[in-house]
Amino acid sequence: MHEQTQEITEIILKAKAKAIKETNHEPEPEFSKPINWPVNCVVGPGLEGAIACETKIGYVNGAKGWLIYRGYNIFDLCAYSSFEEVSYLLMYGYLPSESQLSAFKKKLIQYRYMHHTKRLLMSFPIEKMHPMAGLRLGTNLMRQEFTDADRENYTSNLAKIISADEDSIPMETKPKGEEHAIYEFKQPQRQQIISDDLKHATGFESCFHLLSGVATLTGAISRLRQGAMPIENDASLSFAANLIYTMTGKRPTPIEERIMDVSLILHADHGMNASTFASMVVASTLSDVYLSVGAGIAALQGPLHGGANERVIEMLNEIGSVDNVKPWFEKKRAKKEKVMGFGHRVYKAYDPRALVLGPLAKFMTKKSSNGKKLFKIAQALEKEVVSTLGKEKRIFPNVDFYSGIVYAAMGITAEFYTPIFAVSRVAGWTARVQEYMRNNRIFRPRAMYTGPFDKEYIPINKRKK
Ligand code: ACO
Repeated sequence: MHEQTQEITEIILKAKAKAIKETNHEPEPEFSKPINWPVNCVVGPGLEGAIACETKIGYVNGAKGWLIYRGYNIFDLCAYSSFEEVSYLLMYGYLPSESQLSAFKKKLIQYRYMHHTKRLLMSFPIEKMHPMAGLRLGTNLMRQEFTDADRENYTSNLAKIISADEDSIPMETKPKGEEHAIYEFKQPQRQQIISDDLKHATGFESCFHLLSGVATLTGAISRLRQGAMPIENDASLSFAANLIYTMTGKRPTPIEERIMDVSLILHADHGMNASTFASMVVASTLSDVYLSVGAGIAALQGPLHGGANERVIEMLNEIGSVDNVKPWFEKKRAKKEKVMGFGHRVYKAYDPRALVLGPLAKFMTKKSSNGKKLFKIAQALEKEVVSTLGKEKRIFPNVDFYSGIVYAAMGITAEFYTPIFAVSRVAGWTARVQEYMRNNRIFRPRAMYTGPFDKEYIPINKRKK
């Protein structure tokens, strides 16, 4: 291993030691056992506390600050694994052998090449859209490309008829062949699922198409926004390195590659968060995995969710200096406004992802005066928030607080922080969608009606003016 990347492993292991010191090792029994439906639970607004399904994919213990993928803690995965291996783990349920991992990496590399989709994407005014809108559009185009059995016909026809309006993308004709039938999830037989491996689910292959494809789209959108042509993928590069390369046009240093890889691992899955739930809701209607990922991207964009990382950098720039942290924060508190990058529905302890990203942000910014300045403002703000809101309301930094500083140090601009999050989260969205589809039941909660009954309908000409 590269000497400098060893330093990153040490930073992660230090974060692990800190996390272990601050927590004991008992899972929450109410959120970590098989369910006998129906289940009783206390539900708050926004479905707080509601249990929607069983899963073996991942677990977040909010009281203690744990994040676990398929039984492995996030710190060990960051220290020793790679994003490709973690994606395999989430989907197949076990760590791959060397030959399995190498075949899986080859598959992901093949799926990076999406010439038709890239070409189609370029016929839209991508530079005028937020990159997250570009990603939503791109996943629709990928769906088109993959859906039609007669791909050649389809792509030449589609190029002629699309307009610049995202909503007017023509819908596909039903695919002819079963092998490309990502068009519909088949309703599986309700059955006892024995294996954790999701590979027999319909649309399984499309998950990997999406995993590589959303990264390729992010690279292409980044270049188009810089007024440059998309760069061809480099098959010799890892998933993380190729992402940086196709976005920035520069081959990353081993440090940048390793840090991007760690960041992708940290963002890959996180329980029933809003975007994962959104993608599962779409899938539960027997829609398909492309549309599910599109829904995930849409939900992730919001500033209360993945969109917070972009706002954090804006906020730190607005604060401008360490001296201004306290007065700025006091004003925010007085107005009861939220501080971006803090707080979480589930974590009432320190978010373990921030425990890793904080020190990595420090490491990445040590050689840049602007980066160092941003990091110092962030550190001072964290101290201020934790010593007040941390004590009063258990509010701590979340994953979005330090990630932007890390990406900025790699020369990545703020509007791409959420797309990078999306690139990684495709792994969690698709794994959870596939798992849920094995025993699908359409999501359909109820709302409590508090409006009036029995109102008399008055014709328009008789209504009071
Ligand atoms: N800054 C200041 N106060 C906060 C913050 C914050 N970031 N987050 C929560 N609070 C306060 C609320 O004002 C509220 O106070 P009150 O009880 O006195 O009214 C209390 O904490 C509970 O807050 P809710 O908004 O009800 O918590 P909820 O679980 O609904 O929201 C959320 C969680 C959306 C993440 C929230 O903490 C927030 O808006 N944070 C800022 C945006 C952000 O960083 N989002 C990224 C989250 S991580 C992710 O999605 C990838």
